[in-house]
Amino acid sequence: MNATVNRQILLVEKPSGKLGPEHFKLTDGSIPEPKDGEALLRVRFISLDAANRAWMHGATYRSAVEANTVMAGGGIAEVVASKSPGLAPGDIVFGDTGWQDYAAIPAKHLTKLPKLEPMTHLLSVYGIAGLTAYFGLLEIGKPKAGETVVVSAAAGSVGSIVGQIAKIKGCHAVGIAGGKDKCHWLTSELGFDAAVDYKDGAVFKALRAAAPKGIDVYFDNVGGDILEACLPQMNNYGRIACCGAISQYDGVPAAHGPRGVPGLIVVKRLIMQGFIVMDFMAERARAVNELQGWVTSGKLKVPEDVIDGLENTPAALIGLLAGENRGKRMIRV
Ligand SMILES: NC(=O)c1ccc[n+]([C@@H]2O[C@H](COP(=O)([O-])OP(=O)(O)OC[C@H]3O[C@@H](n4cnc5c(N)ncnc54)[C@H](OP(=O)(O)O)[C@@H]3O)[C@@H](O)[C@H]2O)c1
Repeated sequence: MNATVNRQILLVEKPSGKLGPEHFKLTDGSIPEPKDGEALLRVRFISLDAANRAWMHGATYRSAVEANTVMAGGGIAEVVASKSPGLAPGDIVFGDTGWQDYAAIPAKHLTKLPKLEPMTHLLSVYGIAGLTAYFGLLEIGKPKAGETVVVSAAAGSVGSIVGQIAKIKGCHAVGIAGGKDKCHWLTSELGFDAAVDYKDGAVFKALRAAAPKGIDVYFDNVGGDILEACLPQMNNYGRIACCGAISQYDGVPAAHGPRGVPGLIVVKRLIMQGFIVMDFMAERARAVNELQGWVTSGKLKVPEDVIDGLENTPAALIGLLAGENRGKRMIRV
């Protein structure tokens, strides 16, 4: 290994409002020495996730990110040295590498991955995004053929796969996304039956037109007003898979609503259930196998948005929160 410098991006301050470039700093650190049980990793791809912003608010399903530390984030990395019997140089792993070139991480916190091409698929369709879509839709939403599935943040990494799996399962798939172009992309490229541009104003009415038989499954990535627009249009015995609340991550005060909770949930006998993808990891191999079958047969497209350069990671996250991405956004380090 010839490199001597470990470029790192620190979160220098937790934002109280919107996230901006001033909250980050690129710095040169040293390459860590792995301790017993650890592997030294060269980070190859960093995952950009809406959740990166949510972690700045405080502890969630993981501990909060703190100021003046390397910004946390999942990544695909190559083992360059190992003091763990389970890992050898050249192995490819997923872990919380953080936003940096190198990381030394206990092997027990790493997932060894198969070597497949393109490697980016390990972060998108076979990574957290694809698995969240798969388990959230199939295990929580439980769609049946002929039903209507609506997904928000539909052009994002999770939503773009949710809608396609809904189609594979014989459902009427409706995506909600920001902007005409994204909506057109969902129907023309990814095969959604209809798309609703939530930035165009009348979401409730547009949703009624896009889902004329009502909604049986709502895969909620955003919470807030869009959840409120979906609730009255749910069919009796509908299921709402609560995946995330991106409308409330980036400095926006928590919404007081949505109105209709719990009244509509009672009257329509709805099931509304949150989930965290990690809870399903024992079933990961089965899911990856099925996803691989769909990708190989061309039934499932894998939209990816790869940006080069560690130094561009803050801007890439800020842009993601503003809706720049289509599909899974990541940094090639
Ligand atoms: N439960 C779990 O285990 C789990 C795992 C992974 C992810 N998640 C959650 O899943 C959700 C989607 O994540 P992702 O990785 O697919 O997203 P993503 O690819 O990071 O894309 C986020 C998209 O959300 C949209 N968005 C941003 N602000 C919005 C707002 N105020 N209202 C509506 N849409 C907004 C933007 O597209 P537009 O142009 O359409 O606005 C943006 O492109 C997030 O809430 C995330 O926290 C949960």
